[in-house]
Amino acid sequence: MENIVKVKDREFRLYLTQAEILEAVDRVAARINADLANKNPIFVAVLNGAFIFAADLYRRITIPSQITFMRMKSYEGMNTSGKVKTIASLHESMVGRTVVVVEDIVDSGYTMDRMIAQLYDLGAAHVYVSTLLRKPAALKVPTLHIDYCALEIPNDFIVGYGLDYDEEGRNLPDIYVLNE
Ligand code: IMP
Ligand code: MG
Repeated sequence: MENIVKVKDREFRLYLTQAEILEAVDRVAARINADLANKNPIFVAVLNGAFIFAADLYRRITIPSQITFMRMKSYEGMNTSGKVKTIASLHESMVGRTVVVVEDIVDSGYTMDRMIAQLYDLGAAHVYVSTLLRKPAALKVPTLHIDYCALEIPNDFIVGYGLDYDEEGRNLPDIYVLNE
């Protein structure tokens, strides 16, 4: 793995290795397997950013369950726009279901807050939140409850392991932080 990578016009430095990430994913999966064993949960992964985390997490889920995908967008470049758009919605019924949202990162919390509200509106019985990363210092929705968080990070911009800088860098196997 490289210590410094360039994505578009910016330099990023290695921050979390894939091995460190996967250890954290193991721990979250074990907790979900224990907690939701008899709930037949449906996992709802948030595209695009969560697709790699969702694949690694879901491979470690051993309980009866399903997975589906939803598409939201709030970031433009390096800033949260505050306006969260639902770009592609769900085909599966959420009525009476135990839902586990799978997100890459909770930053301001607006995306997750909106997702949870939409899922309850669709009739979900209980919505749990799992996220690979969270930036506690950036949270703007103090009431947001996160059930399963793999790793907490400072309020810095990161790329890799599914997360992008202006749609690039998602393919980096490790996570990198803006070098400045
Ligand atoms: P929020 O609505 O501000 O919580 O932002 C959540 C979304 O912004 C996530 O689903 C990510 O796609 C994106 N995001 C937040 N922080 C970062 C980051 O550091 N790098 C890349 N994308 C990020
Ligand atoms: Mg996202």
